Formats: sequence, structure tokens, C-alpha cells
Amino acid sequence: MLFSSRTTSHLLPRALTVRHFPTRTMATKDWSAQQYLKFEAERTRPSRDLLSQIPLKSPKRVVDLGCGPGNSTAVLLKQYPDAHLTGMDSSPDMIRKASATLPNIEFTVEDLNTYTPQEPVDVFFSNAVFQWIPRKERLEVVKRLIRSQPSGGVFAFQVPDNLTEPSHAAMQETAANGPWAEALSTVGRDTFQSPQEIYDELKPLCSDVNVWHTHYYHSLENHEAVVEWVKGTGLRPYIDPLSATDRESFLEAYLGRLEKLYPKTIDGRVLLRYPRLFVVAVRA
Ligand SMILES: C[S@@+](CC[C@H](N)C(=O)[O-])C[C@H]1O[C@@H](n2cnc3c(N)ncnc32)[C@H](O)[C@@H]1O
Repeated sequence: MLFSSRTTSHLLPRALTVRHFPTRTMATKDWSAQQYLKFEAERTRPSRDLLSQIPLKSPKRVVDLGCGPGNSTAVLLKQYPDAHLTGMDSSPDMIRKASATLPNIEFTVEDLNTYTPQEPVDVFFSNAVFQWIPRKERLEVVKRLIRSQPSGGVFAFQVPDNLTEPSHAAMQETAANGPWAEALSTVGRDTFQSPQEIYDELKPLCSDVNVWHTHYYHSLENHEAVVEWVKGTGLRPYIDPLSATDRESFLEAYLGRLEKLYPKTIDGRVLLRYPRLFVVAVRA
């Protein structure tokens, strides 16, 4: 089925996604599945690395939280063909794309802040989503969902840990230096909790909490490709609020900074370092 009968929220206007970013992030527009999928292979790879550490062979119920265009859901489907697999995401555009790509999977437009599963879930899986939930709320959401799981159930998530990378520092610098400085003065993403903070929060509910980092090095065609990459994710809160003219100037200034920060590799490409944080927690 294309959309769950539980919700008609795919018909809702863009406002549905706006209210998820009440603090520092300002994602005022729906996500674009098309922009996001320009780097599908690179963005999907961590979901396989996360999945490889889940110690469950035959879970009955699996939910892809923040499934996006269904790329992470497809990875789960391959690994767990017999499970009851569903996906949820707050973006109508992402859910439209996911439903078109995997028509036999049930996808729903829902917000993680209020999402409650109807049945106990053996595996909650979330690739590159919780960084978008404000810091104070994100581990509360994780704990609420873990509490609903059966003993031995798994909550697995991965988030980019790249706010101090040159690509992201350059966003802040570009935002602070231009005619848009005042308009963008509150934009920025909350830092993610440290491995120990995550461990200490989740361990009282779990028999095991496995936390690790992986640094990917993506060889991209040029500096413009770095801009294209972050346009689908981290740059959205900066450029979405700007007029078309300011957006163009912002992107130009941002590109100029990237050219200084990332020297070309021997083959004329650009190596984008991309640290990611992984957590696999097992319900006690
Ligand atoms: C970077 S994409 C990840 C997509 C996919 N899981 C993957 O592996 O590539 C982040 C997704 O999180 C979703 N998202 C952000 N905040 C959300 C929330 N509060 N509730 C549900 N989904 C949310 C966005 O709509 C977007 O599709």
C-alpha cells in the first residue's frame, strides 16, 4: 500500500515538517528526495555498517525511523525479508518517494516526537535522523521507544558527527559574513551527545550499549559536489530562509571557502572527510 490508512498526513501542507525544528535549526521547507538521493550510495553505506552490528537474526517487527526516500528501508528489506517492516518519516516528499520505490512496504508520514508504535518492535533502525531532533529531546525520544521494546529488542541509530568539520564550520562562517548575517544568526545544529552521555542515558534500560565512530572519506568530483552534497542536508537551514538572490550569493561565498579549505587530490577531486557516530542498544 502506498500510505498507511492510519494517517492521511501525506496530504498535509509543508507546515508538518516546520514544527520539528523549534530551537536552533530552521528547516522551513520539506526535504527534497531528489536532492538527497544525488549521493545515495555514500549516504546509504553507513546504514549497512550499522545493520552489520545488530545482534538479531530474525526480528518479527522492524521500523525504519526517518526512512527518508526508502534507501535505508531497502537495506533492511534485504537483510530481513520475512520481517514485518515499516518506515516512517515527517517529510511528505520523502514518503512519496519511498512508497514509489518500495510499493509493498507500509510508509507513514509521522513525527518522531510523537510517534508511538502500535505493536512492540524488535528493531528500531534510524540512519542519519536524530541529529535533526533538538538535543534536549532526542535521547528522550530514543528512551521512550526503547521502553516500549521487548527484552532483547534493538535500537540502532547512526548520526553524522561533522559539525566541527571544515564543510560545516564554513557554513557558520559564511552565515556570519554577509547581508544575511542577522537573518541567519540563530541558525545552527545542536551538537550531538558524547559517546559517554549516550551510554549513561541508555544503559539503565539496556543490557548492552555499543557505541563507535567511523570516518568515511568520500572522493567527490569537485568542490561544487561538496556544495551539492550538503545542499540536501546540513545547508538546508541556512539557505531555505533566504531569497533566491541571497541564496545564490551565499552558495557562491560558501563555495569560495570550501575551495580554500579542501585542497584537490592528485586526480583533481576533493576528499570529503565525514565522521559518523553509531549506536546499537539492546533492551534489557
Ligand atoms: C538525512 S535523511 C535520512 C534518510 C534515510 N534514513 C537514509 O538512510 O539516508 C533524514 C530524514 O529524517 C527525517 N526527519 C527529520 N526530523 C524528523 C522527525 N522529527 N520525525 C520523523 N522524521 C524526521 C527527514 O524528513 C529526512 O527524511
